[in-house]
Amino acid sequence: MELTQELLDRLLAESLRAREFSHAPYSKYRVGVALLDEQGRIHIGANVENASFPQGWCAEPSALTAMIMAGGKQAKVALVTGPGPDIITPCGGCRQKLREFSVPDELVIIAGDPGGIRQRWTLAELLPHSFGPSHLNF
Ligand code: THU
Repeated sequence: MELTQELLDRLLAESLRAREFSHAPYSKYRVGVALLDEQGRIHIGANVENASFPQGWCAEPSALTAMIMAGGKQAKVALVTGPGPDIITPCGGCRQKLREFSVPDELVIIAGDPGGIRQRWTLAELLPHSFGPSHLNF
């Protein structure tokens, strides 16, 4: 799937729209994710914190759940937006969750904020030598 400027603009707009749904009254750090699946569809998610702090979760699993429930099988692009100014990167646990539904050197992870797109990597760059589903085919 070609990452045209038009698609990048749509993903950024959807990720920022997802951020508006963030429930982050404790950290105030609102995160949105727009996930592009193998069918070219976009699924969104936001972080959902909880008064019992460890029970909260990140924006990436929210978006992955939306993708899975819509029948998506593979994440192709994940555009993650935070508040800036520091460039947001998915936490370690989220990298592993994304790993489950992607080909690590094909999944493009893009960081952005309300000012626009900041940086991009592949999942393989962010999570090298990853443990994945094929390890369980022993
Ligand atoms: N957060 C995400 O949603 N995704 C990330 O990749 C980094 C961190 C959330 C978790 C928590 O609600 C807030 O950001 C501050 O850590």
